[in-house]
Amino acid sequence: MSFTTSSAQLPRVLIYHLREVIKTREAQGANFRLTVPSLQIGLGEKIALIGESGCGKSTLLDLLALLSRPSEAGAFRFRPEGTLDALDIAHYWRKKQLDELGDLRKQQIGYVMQTGGLLPYLTVRQNLTLSRRLLNMYDDQKVDELARNLGIHRHLDKLPSQLSTGERQRVAIGRALAHHPAIVIADEPTASLDPIAAKKIMALFIELVEAMNITVIVASHAWMHVRELGLRRISLHTRVSENGHLAETVVRG
Ligand SMILES: Nc1ncnc2c1ncn2[C@@H]1O[C@H](COP(=O)(O)OP(=O)(O)OP(=O)(O)O)[C@@H](O)[C@H]1O
Ligand SMILES: [Mg+2]
Repeated sequence: MSFTTSSAQLPRVLIYHLREVIKTREAQGANFRLTVPSLQIGLGEKIALIGESGCGKSTLLDLLALLSRPSEAGAFRFRPEGTLDALDIAHYWRKKQLDELGDLRKQQIGYVMQTGGLLPYLTVRQNLTLSRRLLNMYDDQKVDELARNLGIHRHLDKLPSQLSTGERQRVAIGRALAHHPAIVIADEPTASLDPIAAKKIMALFIELVEAMNITVIVASHAWMHVRELGLRRISLHTRVSENGHLAETVVRG
């Protein structure tokens, strides 16, 4: 089967292709199941995951970030660069090839966490260059340029605790982009900000990933901006069984 699909006009290269992927989570008799009958994400696409709290957005993002092992997978293919063949991620998990998964994550994926996830004892500059250091990328000019674009250049020598929440969030975005990954995954990156700051930072984030030609998947509560920013919306809906023991979310997109 060819690893492309026909969209409106041109065949698009898929960065993700999931079929019959399931992730179950069990805790004290209240089980959660995320079912993905089919999900295809094209290289360069901008996706917004939308759904209420507890519907499985973070669960899906962790699967896509290769952080969490699917409970079942008919197919889970990942093709981070147009020239490479699609990688069989389901096979990597089955064979417990955790080092390979870790390397892929490090090289190809940037993750922006809701809480920022910055290392408190490193300066902003050190936080920004961390992912590049791990890949032996020592040219810091790119980091300076990114910091300027994010408006945090004058804070480079500060510790995260000396920044405002919005500034920290911009550093977290910068850190996820600094090594120029193929894809950036952002879990409610503006949740702790007021609506005006959230809108500004989200717009800046999308502008940057577009300029850098990076695929983006973002879970966000800033629904009203999703359309304005040109994101493709994937909605998650949860159904709870009659006895209340199982909540299931089905995702298609
Ligand atoms: N480690 C875990 N063990 C068991 N169940 C979990 C675990 N983490 C999450 N869950 C359950 O899985 C479901 C989905 O959680 P998830 O964190 O993916 O939701 P979410 O859409 O990201 O929510 P929010 O918008 O609040 O961040 C929830 O019902 C949650 O209680
Ligand atoms: Mg979440």
